Amino acid sequence: MEVQFNIIRQTKDTEPRVQSYRLDVDPGTTILECLNRIKWEQDGTLAFRKNCRNTICGSCSMRINGRSALACKENVSSELNRLERIAAANSDADGDDSIPTFTVAPMGNMPVIKDLVVDMADFWNNLEAVEPYVSTEARKIPEREFLQSPEERESLNQNGNCILCGACYSECNAREVNPAFVGPHALAKAQRMVLDSRDDRTEARLENYNEGIGGVWGCTRCYNCNTVCPMEVAPMDQIGKIKREILDRKTARDSRPIRHRKVMIDLVKQGGWVDERKFGLMVVGNYLRDLEGLLSLGPLGFRMVLRGKFPLSFEPSEGTQTVRSLIESVQRLEQEKPSKIDN
Ligand code: FES
Repeated sequence: MEVQFNIIRQTKDTEPRVQSYRLDVDPGTTILECLNRIKWEQDGTLAFRKNCRNTICGSCSMRINGRSALACKENVSSELNRLERIAAANSDADGDDSIPTFTVAPMGNMPVIKDLVVDMADFWNNLEAVEPYVSTEARKIPEREFLQSPEERESLNQNGNCILCGACYSECNAREVNPAFVGPHALAKAQRMVLDSRDDRTEARLENYNEGIGGVWGCTRCYNCNTVCPMEVAPMDQIGKIKREILDRKTARDSRPIRHRKVMIDLVKQGGWVDERKFGLMVVGNYLRDLEGLLSLGPLGFRMVLRGKFPLSFEPSEGTQTVRSLIESVQRLEQEKPSKIDN
């Protein structure tokens, strides 16, 4: 069958442009094989990364028809099916019999070096920031191997599947607006370290991952990373598990992100929804203890008053009792099966 590839091409110094290529292919041909054929048969200047051709090395990640994926994993047929599903969901399947067209672009959140090749320096630096190695101290056992039980090893399987392809990082909304955020790939690896029975730095790690907006609290929970991960690592779920470890160790007074979460739950339990008069004072003002935080609320509070948006009173929701019992049910479940509940 004949297909068309619209490839977004650029170099460091040029604006992106679309270049189109047509190919005769079998439906089972992988996107990577199509790119190889374009390069070998039509245009040797096209640049993209590849290595194993077998979903192992993570080199060939790129945006294929709008989402990051491995070019050696997806094929012409699977992409056509996907595009048809999207068209049907958008009700714009119009019986178009024009040639099937695929769009291929470089990954997001990373500067382009050339065509589909991106500069991954920040990606690797952010991985390094979570110390993605079992601590050296814990490995100083000279007399014997450092054994794990089958259960301990099995607990690492999902996170250990990560091939560091960058698909999650490419689609990360938090990373797009917050350059401090280390990214889902790094935090999934961080959770692997927290889980590893051989590592003895759990407490120090959790302090590190709790830091500011660079750690777990920088995640906006958009689920994009879970959706695109080709290895089903579910990075957002792993971030949730780290949050749980931190929340289990900290009180609301310990840091603003933890107060944000705990105060939100407490207020919703009390009134069915958030009493905004109290929320800022408790979270930013640390229950009136943080003078600097309280003063920082002044300008916003003043603007809200001026625009008539400052709530002077609070009416509990009619469904408060139902909301409260739902939250309490989840909290009971969390205590029974902590590993099953995502934050
Ligand atoms: Fe290695 Fe695609 S070439 S994962």
